[in-house]
Amino acid sequence: MRKIYIAPSVLSMDFSDFAGALREIDDSGADWVHLDIMDGQFVPNLTFGPKLVEDLRNKSASFFDVHLMINTPEKLIPAFAKAGADGITFHLEAAVHAHRAAGMIRELGKKAGISIVPSSPVCLIEELLSGLDLVLVMTVNPGFGGQKMIPECLEKVKKLARIREKRGLSFLISADGGIDAGTAGAVLAAGADVLVMGSAFYGAADRKALVERARNSR
Ligand code: DX5
Ligand code: ZN
Repeated sequence: MRKIYIAPSVLSMDFSDFAGALREIDDSGADWVHLDIMDGQFVPNLTFGPKLVEDLRNKSASFFDVHLMINTPEKLIPAFAKAGADGITFHLEAAVHAHRAAGMIRELGKKAGISIVPSSPVCLIEELLSGLDLVLVMTVNPGFGGQKMIPECLEKVKKLARIREKRGLSFLISADGGIDAGTAGAVLAAGADVLVMGSAFYGAADRKALVERARNSR
């Protein structure tokens, strides 16, 4: 049985209490902390930068899964690596030289990920897969938490799982957007290894139970 990673997104937390929100993740039994970085250009929203990641790094030993929703990610990849990211995922649509950017992440000793928005097909990243540790399939249009999943995006998760098997590759498949206890089963059935959860996680009365339920919903 493959390992499933639950990655709560801090986007839906109370931004006035980052440390507390991080503790909630650690206490819930979740595996990763998903940190959404938005620049107000690539996506119509703004969040935070490397300084906050660095400060949070001192407060958690969890895997920091940094999701860059920023233009020209190459410029800031070194700063997020230095801040303590364990994995750095950037958007194919935001990088001119995605191959170079992925290589840069690995050279910095971090796990390299590429994300695709709902309108981007899997074929755009097929040549890059052997150099990746993770592919993040956006299951909503990026920019905001609390949106409804676009179920058609799960076809891309399925396609990636098929390609991975056929080519004997080992990248993880992550799905991000609109995942909750109700949709997690379909996402896992499609072949995802990582479930990012923002609003469902912070909105749950019992976060531990949600994490358990999502993990076992396949
Ligand atoms: C959206 C972000 C997501 C977001 C998911 O652009 O990349 O990580 O936090 O939030 P939910 O789970 O509420 O869709
Ligand atoms: Zn995200």
